[in-house]
Amino acid sequence: MVTVVVGGQFGDEGKGKIMSYLCMEDDPDVVVRGGVGPNAGHTVVVDGERYGVRQMPAGFANKRSRLLIGTGVLINPGVLLEEIDLLKKFDIKSRLGVDYRCTIIEKKHMERDTASDYLKTVVKTTGAGCGPANEDRVKRIAKRAEDTEELKPWVTDVSDELNSGIDDNKKILVEGTQGFALSVYYGTYPFVTSKDTTASAMLSDVGIGPTKVKDVITVFKAYTSRVGGGKLPTEDLEWAVKKGIVEYGTVTKRKRRIGKFDFELARRSVRINGATQLALTCIDILYPKCAGVREYDGLSDDAKAYIMDIESKLGVPIKLISTGPELKDTIDIRED
Ligand code: GTP
Ligand code: IMP
Ligand code: MG
Repeated sequence: MVTVVVGGQFGDEGKGKIMSYLCMEDDPDVVVRGGVGPNAGHTVVVDGERYGVRQMPAGFANKRSRLLIGTGVLINPGVLLEEIDLLKKFDIKSRLGVDYRCTIIEKKHMERDTASDYLKTVVKTTGAGCGPANEDRVKRIAKRAEDTEELKPWVTDVSDELNSGIDDNKKILVEGTQGFALSVYYGTYPFVTSKDTTASAMLSDVGIGPTKVKDVITVFKAYTSRVGGGKLPTEDLEWAVKKGIVEYGTVTKRKRRIGKFDFELARRSVRINGATQLALTCIDILYPKCAGVREYDGLSDDAKAYIMDIESKLGVPIKLISTGPELKDTIDIRED
């Protein structure tokens, strides 16, 4: 059974939090990461400890799950090795697998990312080297994981593992990074990342066909945030200040721009992702009385009305509601 989790807005919707909850609650056999690469920063809070992961699947907290990184994902070996070390109490070494075809980010890619005025000051990339590495991949001159000595212990055929798992009825969670509006196809071009970021792209990143998928969970924040350049139609600084919303990027530490929920964007996102369920995060930021609530009935009436409004306007059920950064601060109204 395959479930895909993707970001519905500009990234940083809280996919890390939702993934970590699903990994503990659903106990998947395999968690596999798709998406661009270490430009992403997923925040995971387990038992009060906060981890920011750029390469590792955010579902690392469940020691039973195999952790895989799909071929579409760019690997910075230094970042990955640091995270293996940072997370050593989760026994990562024995559970990790990296697809042998993954493209490697080298120093020259990071240099090109930060040396380009256009990328740095117009697109405002994360500087992680992802765009230039994908460029070299397309030029067919990139280095691959199979050629990288430090990665040898973990190199595997991810697609093969996943499809054998599907044949054996294993539970697989596919973890997306970035968000719909950062897609190089559907996003706010040219202020986008270097790949498509929709659910279909995540499947291609990890090597699973679309007929194998049961659910696509699209994650939305209760409002909108964006780092980097490009338009943000609902941006509203005054409103953000009034609500006390202040956010900083996990990777770049840049201040995130804040706006109200963008229904027009969300509708497109739901359609193109083929969402079957939605997860809504940070409801406690808009409705502080809801912080840490774990039952639907514990939500305030105004929060419930807000949630129902989003659900009816998007036409897809909101099945997971996040009320805090800790993985357990989640209301789960899925049937099975
Ligand atoms: P990318 O892969 O970079 O797109 O990131 P992400 O979607 O995993 O989100 P990221 O961790 O960068 O940002 C989300 C922020 O919101 C983090 O600081 C989380 O700890 C926090 N967060 C997630 N869910 C909730 C929630 O329900 N309430 C509150 N207060 N914070 C939350
Ligand atoms: P790049 O992906 O580093 O090339 O950056 C291109 C654009 O995508 C910039 O506006 C980044 O801020 C944005 N971006 C890339 N990855 C993420 C992410 O994981 N969260 C939020 N924004 C991102
Ligand atoms: Mg992030």
